[in-house]
Amino acid sequence: MAKKIIILASGNGSNAEEIMRYFKVSSVADVSCVISNKREAGVFERAKSFDVPCVWLNKSYFESNEIVNYLNDLKPDLIVLAGFLLKIPKKLIQLFPNKIINIHPALLPKHGGKGMFGKHVHQAVKDSGDSHTGITIHYVNENYDEGGIIFQAQVGIDSNDDPDSIAQKIHKLEHKHFPEVINQILNK
Ligand code: GAR
Repeated sequence: MAKKIIILASGNGSNAEEIMRYFKVSSVADVSCVISNKREAGVFERAKSFDVPCVWLNKSYFESNEIVNYLNDLKPDLIVLAGFLLKIPKKLIQLFPNKIINIHPALLPKHGGKGMFGKHVHQAVKDSGDSHTGITIHYVNENYDEGGIIFQAQVGIDSNDDPDSIAQKIHKLEHKHFPEVINQILNK
């Protein structure tokens, strides 16, 4: 039987889109639902175009026990954070051990932690003068960006790169690898 993926996303949703595209033609898993904490998130339009049900749940819902019951009822095999910016409550982590994964747009443990998302990360990479950056896919634990690392991939940057061009390079890497890594996890 096909496994169930639930995607949590706060923004544009380009990673969510690539995951939906990948699993649309896979017998391994279905994206059964996309959940966002942002009513205007671009991810909603993307989910609709794949006929994937999408739900807006506000921040206080995520911080309550309701989210635990809600996700428990959906019985997901994997919860995928694809640009999801709220902290995952401890009770959810306990309910789904090693079943919640996140993608971070840098090579953790560098450039992670609270407040490090999207452009802030690419700016920090630029400011650090690093010669390369990359992506990290990791399990989610109680601390931001500290769960066990599942996969990393690198890309070179040079002095001409700015946060926007770094973001483009990162998105390319994410779109290439994230669906495939999810597939590998679900096939284990
Ligand atoms: C992605 O680059 C993802 O790695 C990052 O947000 C972007 C979302 O893009 N996540 C974080 O920074 C989490 N700390 P998308 O909405 O187009 O998929």
